[in-house]
Amino acid sequence: MSEKPKLELTWIGKDKRPRLEPRILIEDKALSYRAEAPAPVQGDLLADERPPSFHDNLLIQGDNLLALKALESKYAGEVKCVFIDPPYNTGSAFTHYDDGLEHSLWLTMMRDRLEIIRNLLADEGSLWITIDDNEAHYLKVMCDGVFGRKNFINTIVWEKDAGRKNDTDISTSHDYILIYSKNKELWKRARNTLERTEDQISRYKNPDDDPRGPWRQGADGTAKSGSESLRYEIKLPSGRVVTPPSGNYWRFSKETLNQALLENRVYFGKKGDSLPIIKKYLSEIQEGIVPKTWWPSSEVGSNQEARRDHLRKLLPDIEPFATPKPERLLHRIIHIATNPGDLVLDSFAGSGTTGAVAHKMGRRWIMVELGEHCHTHIVPRLKKVIDGEDQGGISKTVNWQGGGGFRYLRLAPSLLKKDQWGNWVINPAYNAEMLAEAMCKHMGFTYAPSQTHYWMHGHSSEADFIYVTTGSLSHDQLRLIGEEVGSERSLLICCKAFMADAEAFPNLTLKKIPRAILGKCEWDHDDYSFSIELLAETPDDEPLEDQ
Ligand SMILES: C[S@@+](CC[C@H](N)C(=O)[O-])C[C@H]1O[C@@H](n2cnc3c(N)ncnc32)[C@H](O)[C@@H]1O
Repeated sequence: MSEKPKLELTWIGKDKRPRLEPRILIEDKALSYRAEAPAPVQGDLLADERPPSFHDNLLIQGDNLLALKALESKYAGEVKCVFIDPPYNTGSAFTHYDDGLEHSLWLTMMRDRLEIIRNLLADEGSLWITIDDNEAHYLKVMCDGVFGRKNFINTIVWEKDAGRKNDTDISTSHDYILIYSKNKELWKRARNTLERTEDQISRYKNPDDDPRGPWRQGADGTAKSGSESLRYEIKLPSGRVVTPPSGNYWRFSKETLNQALLENRVYFGKKGDSLPIIKKYLSEIQEGIVPKTWWPSSEVGSNQEARRDHLRKLLPDIEPFATPKPERLLHRIIHIATNPGDLVLDSFAGSGTTGAVAHKMGRRWIMVELGEHCHTHIVPRLKKVIDGEDQGGISKTVNWQGGGGFRYLRLAPSLLKKDQWGNWVINPAYNAEMLAEAMCKHMGFTYAPSQTHYWMHGHSSEADFIYVTTGSLSHDQLRLIGEEVGSERSLLICCKAFMADAEAFPNLTLKKIPRAILGKCEWDHDDYSFSIELLAETPDDEPLEDQ
């Protein structure tokens, strides 16, 4: 048993974990969408890197806890960047979703989702969570527990609002973005730096026509602290001999200066009579710049930019979200955390900013959204992106012309339901294919029905298969299947009933549905959402007043 940590955040209901049913996902083809032409190669995609294909992008409507669980078997270890913008638990009622959960419930619900998100992340992957002061500090400590404190990367302060509200005590300008990695060392090696801005590049000048190009002052001049060895005399080309004023020291050693002189990279001013400057050339510095923790709206946009300057113009008939994230913000995050072709996930999709930006940047994406706005807001927005009609947001920066597509998926209902006598039975809404796919998930097999062998619904290895049927199998039927499977392969048969000695066929394992899966999870539980009604339930039966 693992030891209890010495320092931990605790809250009511912390030890309660839902036993989630791994659902299958069903496509709603009427809402899936793809461009006529294949997606063109975009932005920083190299010519031989494949553009995002229609099937790689998924928009899932439903509760994200069940959706994340549904994704786990296929996508564990695959996702490079998760961005989430969950309800901040502000206590204010938003038009499109409930926000204002009691703190313990909020923490439990976030923890349950973050544990699956951690499983989905690739080893060099990262999670970015926007949040404000209502829960930021509790969330930080809780995330330390899920990801390990050593995997915390940093907190970004994003200026979400460049204005000032005069009807409050202190006007809030920022949100936080907490960043966690699955493995900090691997993340550090994989993460991208930012491109230098024109402004930063313009700080490099070439006043002496140096053939090595523009340069700027390196770590030189004088400092207020240092050792006596940093107070040596320097003879300037003009003949003047200088030492730092009393109490000051050169910032560079004599050896560094001599080396720089040998390389002809010391500048003494136009007349050769100024204090020496050791040059740092633009051509020599690493290609990009390291991101900072302060992200002003002038660099990455604000809520207002997303609402007023982009979404209102893009979808004039649809009331935009209260706090959509600007595309420039997601562009920076996705740029730092991923490369073209990588998979990006947002399980609190809102108006679909993450998917729209990932799409334009040539990344694959998965989004999950519970609310109706999944089809009222996200679908129309993405259609415009795919049709090349969205020229706002980051479109011009990445030269977006349109292309690609996505599949619209819903969570299947529970595989088991209670019948009129209170017995768990296979949900009548399931057809044979759905049942086979769901059983593969439950039994740890990859669903891959064979065109040639009716008994091959999936596999767990090259020689181990699964067959799912609602039929009752006789001894003779099993004998025939066993002969076809042969001694080099094995088969798990999940059926309604069998009339045979289960031990009689060494290459077959027989299980009955639903008995084989009854105890695996909780069934017919559809709502794990951030629902305000949950407040009525007291976790662990403790009264709320005790908190
Ligand atoms: C702050 S909004 C996200 C806004 C988004 N970043 C954007 O730019 O438009 C949070 C979203 O999470 C969704 N949400 C809340 N609980 C959810 C759940 N259990 N499953 C899926 N989505 C959920 C809400 O419906 C809401 O749309």
